[in-house]
Amino acid sequence: MTREPNQPEGGSSPADPGEAGGDAPGRVDPRNYSSGRALVVHPDLPQNGQATAGAARRHADARLEEAKGLAAAIDLRVAGAEVVRVDRPQPATLFGRGAVERLGETVLAKAIDVVVVDAAVSPVQQRNLERAWNAKVIDRTGLILEIFGARARTKEGQLQVELASLNYQRSRLVRSWTHLERQRGGYGFLGGPGESQLEIDRRIITDRIASIKRDLAQVRRTRELHRKARQRVPYPVIALVGYTNAGKSTLFNKLTRSEAFAHDMLFATLDPNMRGLKLPSGQEVILSDTVGFISDLPTHLVAAFRATLEEVLEADLVLHVRDISHPDSEAQKHDVENVLRELGMERTVERGLAEVWNKLDLLDDKRHQFVSAQLARAERAVGCSALTGEGVEGVLHFIDGELARARDLLEVDIDLTDGAALSWLYDHGQVLERRDEGHVAHLKVSLDPADRARFQRRYGDMAAQ
Ligand code: GTP
Repeated sequence: MTREPNQPEGGSSPADPGEAGGDAPGRVDPRNYSSGRALVVHPDLPQNGQATAGAARRHADARLEEAKGLAAAIDLRVAGAEVVRVDRPQPATLFGRGAVERLGETVLAKAIDVVVVDAAVSPVQQRNLERAWNAKVIDRTGLILEIFGARARTKEGQLQVELASLNYQRSRLVRSWTHLERQRGGYGFLGGPGESQLEIDRRIITDRIASIKRDLAQVRRTRELHRKARQRVPYPVIALVGYTNAGKSTLFNKLTRSEAFAHDMLFATLDPNMRGLKLPSGQEVILSDTVGFISDLPTHLVAAFRATLEEVLEADLVLHVRDISHPDSEAQKHDVENVLRELGMERTVERGLAEVWNKLDLLDDKRHQFVSAQLARAERAVGCSALTGEGVEGVLHFIDGELARARDLLEVDIDLTDGAALSWLYDHGQVLERRDEGHVAHLKVSLDPADRARFQRRYGDMAAQ
């Protein structure tokens, strides 16, 4: 069995929790996380039938870097990381015997508490590896659930994540007949091996799932009220989306630090990841940072992920922040777009997303020239380095332009009996196109972003389907 240990400390250091998302206070609740020393292992499975085409193309090293960043995002201290090639996955331990032993030595030598295995690990494999290494093992799904748990900000989001976690745990319980360990923090995947006094059996989990479903139904009933409250904010909302580690939070901070506008009363009620921003045109907007996207999102986690992204679904403008220096930048772009499609935003994706190409400072001269030429041709992309500040002013102008563009694209369906909404649009905007069909008028209207927000506040979302 071949293996290629990696340099744990190589390159940029997403392993530093202070860097990976740490600049957004309140994102991670330390009470929920057992901060431990982690070994991150990416099993390189050449024949992995589960890997998507996009993911399969990626370099194992890049995948390892990503897994390190994810581990750091839940406050684990990454003490080591390596790619381990697995030619034939073993049903009992995933890795071959030699690799299990060698990793066990690393666990001992580096006093590792948690081994993050960046793949799907079966319950039996997890149990066997935990015994062999005398350390907690967490797989990719468990890791993603922890991150969602830390970032779910609405009550609905938290419940959705807990539901996904319990379903995950229940499936493990049924298949392996092991007892779950007492939950120490987060969603239980990081609980220590010494804490298994409390056995959570299937009935308890099932009861909890039923109770969460009842709570969810209640929360959904009140969600409409929240949505209305949010619409009282009379500014367009711009959501930053992007692959994990693309630099969204860095850009968010850079933009809002320089050009923030502070209406304290207003923002006291807003999420910490939403801030006001004044554009060069004078237009005031709200910028919203979101959780990073990742590849191989298990389908049963989509609902939980969706709940953490409510603001994206309601944004006036979605800005896709990309790490243009990343070797898998294109594949990451497709992953982000696929997830947005799964979230029901097909129309937005088909129209083409506005993109910010970040990390220009990491490109060598030749590549910088090439990317600049591409940017000059691209209609809806702007380049910058959120870290050095290069091009950030241009991003502000770009947002202004995109909002103007969005203004031209407002398409609404209005019931002909709704005379008030119709005449409001004629009074405040410019009706560019109108097509009546049965009792519905399909309109294309040019509206100011602020008027657009006002219209939605007064008459609800009538966006054409
Ligand atoms: P998630 O929270 O995982 O979604 O990540 P994010 O997209 O919010 O990325 P974040 O802003 O946390 O940045 C990730 C890493 O990239 C950090 O180490 C940043 O310092 C670094 N970074 C961000 N922008 C730039 C840039 O323009 N140039 C360079 N060199 N590094 C950058």
